[in-house]
Amino acid sequence: MDKTKILFVCLGNICRSPSAEAVMKSLLKERDLEQYYEVESAGITGYHAGEPADERMQRHAIQRNIRLTSISQQIKSPDDFNYYDYVIGMDDQNMNDLFELSPNEATSHKISKMTDYCSHHQHTSVPDPYYGGAEGFELVLDILEDACEGLLNSIDKND
Ligand code: 4NP
Repeated sequence: MDKTKILFVCLGNICRSPSAEAVMKSLLKERDLEQYYEVESAGITGYHAGEPADERMQRHAIQRNIRLTSISQQIKSPDDFNYYDYVIGMDDQNMNDLFELSPNEATSHKISKMTDYCSHHQHTSVPDPYYGGAEGFELVLDILEDACEGLLNSIDKND
């Protein structure tokens, strides 16, 4: 069986999307589903390419037993759009950028927004925590935990 391939995308790939990647991997491990999925993350920009996740984000995540291990990379078009089954943005600006980068209509259908999978949170985006305080990082993790669970349930139902 082919693995389901998921790419999480935010602006810099050092806060939100590396966290989404790690939260999803932790959930897959918990449910013993790791062998069925390939999960990665990328940034719209390459400003932080080659860097580990933001230290503040790492510190908040580790308090929930979530270890951020990915190294920042910029999304590649058209390759990533062709390769991944799901390309998931964190906010409306990410969504606009992803639709612009998408090479064709078929790949545009792979794009969705992270908060669409939430069932407990009302937020319509995962807010950028970069210039804010501790509560911003906690909110990112709260939304991502909710959304990853919804995403996994929705993929499971479609398979
Ligand atoms: P991210 O957060 O998109 O969640 O990784 C940001 C990281 C860096 C910047 C902005 C947002 N920046 O302006 O450098």
